[in-house]
Amino acid sequence: MQGLIADIDLLEEEKNQAESCDFKTTKDDGTKARRKLYIESYGCQMNFSDSEIVTSILKKEGFGTTSSPEHADVILINTCSIREKAEQTVRNRLKVFNAVKKKNREVTVGVLGCMAERLKSKLLEEEKIVDLVLGPDAYRDLPKLVKQAEEGEKGINTFLSREETYADISPVRLNSNGVSAFISIMRGCDNMCSFCVVPFTRGRERSRDPHSIVAEAQELFDNGYREVTLLGQNVDSYKWSEEENNKARLNKKDDVEEIINFANLIEMVAKVSPDLRVRFSTSHPKDITDEVLITMTKYENICNYIHLPAQSGNTRVLELMNRTYSREWYINRVDAIRKILGEECGISSDMIAGFCSETEEEHKDTLTLMDYVKYDFSYMFFYSERPGTVAAKKYEDDIPLEVKKRRLQEIIDKQREISLQRNKLDIGKEFKVLVEGTSKRSDQQMQGRNSANKVIIFDADVPKGTYVNVRVTDCTPATLFGELI
Ligand code: SAH
Ligand code: SF4
Ligand code: F3S
Repeated sequence: MQGLIADIDLLEEEKNQAESCDFKTTKDDGTKARRKLYIESYGCQMNFSDSEIVTSILKKEGFGTTSSPEHADVILINTCSIREKAEQTVRNRLKVFNAVKKKNREVTVGVLGCMAERLKSKLLEEEKIVDLVLGPDAYRDLPKLVKQAEEGEKGINTFLSREETYADISPVRLNSNGVSAFISIMRGCDNMCSFCVVPFTRGRERSRDPHSIVAEAQELFDNGYREVTLLGQNVDSYKWSEEENNKARLNKKDDVEEIINFANLIEMVAKVSPDLRVRFSTSHPKDITDEVLITMTKYENICNYIHLPAQSGNTRVLELMNRTYSREWYINRVDAIRKILGEECGISSDMIAGFCSETEEEHKDTLTLMDYVKYDFSYMFFYSERPGTVAAKKYEDDIPLEVKKRRLQEIIDKQREISLQRNKLDIGKEFKVLVEGTSKRSDQQMQGRNSANKVIIFDADVPKGTYVNVRVTDCTPATLFGELI
């Protein structure tokens, strides 16, 4: 059983190699609130960011937060469906919460997020302990459903919205180091990659009002934050126009206004302050434009790092995956990044080993793509069939588990080798580092990241949130070590 360790306790190295099911939990907020909320969150940063919105919604109802399910009045588990293992982990956690509920019959247990959306009322039927089920677009209903549950009535809302962006809700920063924070800029996904459950669990793509995004970034900066990461499943397809928004809301026509695209948005956020670093994730290779890359060069505070998941290096497999780009297209985008942003730009990927019908040769294409791009790191998985997806309906999940695992191991070994090569290139170089706090390895050292998103550990005693210059002296595949200049 996994203990109550937060994701931050894992070294980057371990995270990249294992198909980890990290989770984050609420902390004790130290308030004397009469009622306490405990949330455990799985899955992607979007989910962690949603838990901050959920906490904000319940805080308005007088809830404080606790780090222990035993002390909670409401236990929520914000779930992920991306792979089978993620769902299994949640099922196991529900067993643990069942034991808590046996001791305290009054506690309300709710399932939120992607698994709630995927399984809907089945969750209430299959998991007797669950009192409420809420999908990602239904969190405003939480106070009502908690109240109902307290009166003994189970509740469910898995309605998916075309408009909800929670733009007006100011998230309670749960897992933050006080230096960097996440801002959701869009929700949902319209891409329909054949292996992926997200379009079903998160609904249609919609972009959030840019003014509320800039206001949130400004507020974070005013509160001492020095880095924001703009989040979405596909940030490069961000699109917002005043006119469309008004039409949808008020059903009236306004003067035609300019459309704000992702390049415009990062520029708006970058202008909040030159001391506020701007990052974003995830970029879809089909949508990342030269305009975005050129905007990145114009602002020193827009970080020189792009998460550009390839999934596979073979065009036939990419076609089956419905990624809508070929190996050549992907390479063209990488070449554009290297040309416009330089060799030092950090690039990372997600890779899937053993997708339906993938041959040994096609798997090797993934390895050669990795050699070509020289990713700084990758998140690597073996294919896990998800019910209801196009791949589950149309293709046979025919690669034996041992073969998937062996191919995954080859991808992991390759990445390790490339990460080390890339990190070695940094030895002797100087970087501007944003200090995030003491090192995870030792209290005596500080750690931060450079613009390319590399973790650097160094001896110093400086406050977190400050920028320092560090010269790199040594490295592992996952970390750089350096000295303060
Ligand atoms: N929107 C992002 C990905 C979100 S999901 C993008 O398009 O890049 C995060 C990663 O999980 C994916 O990039 C993919 O590598 C992996 N993934 C998604 N579905 C999967 C499945 N069925 N089996 C294995 N890995 C999967
Ligand atoms: Fe899933 Fe593809 Fe959307 Fe990413 S872009 S969330 S992989 S459907
Ligand atoms: Fe998982 Fe949902 Fe994110 S399926 S990866 S929590 S969008």
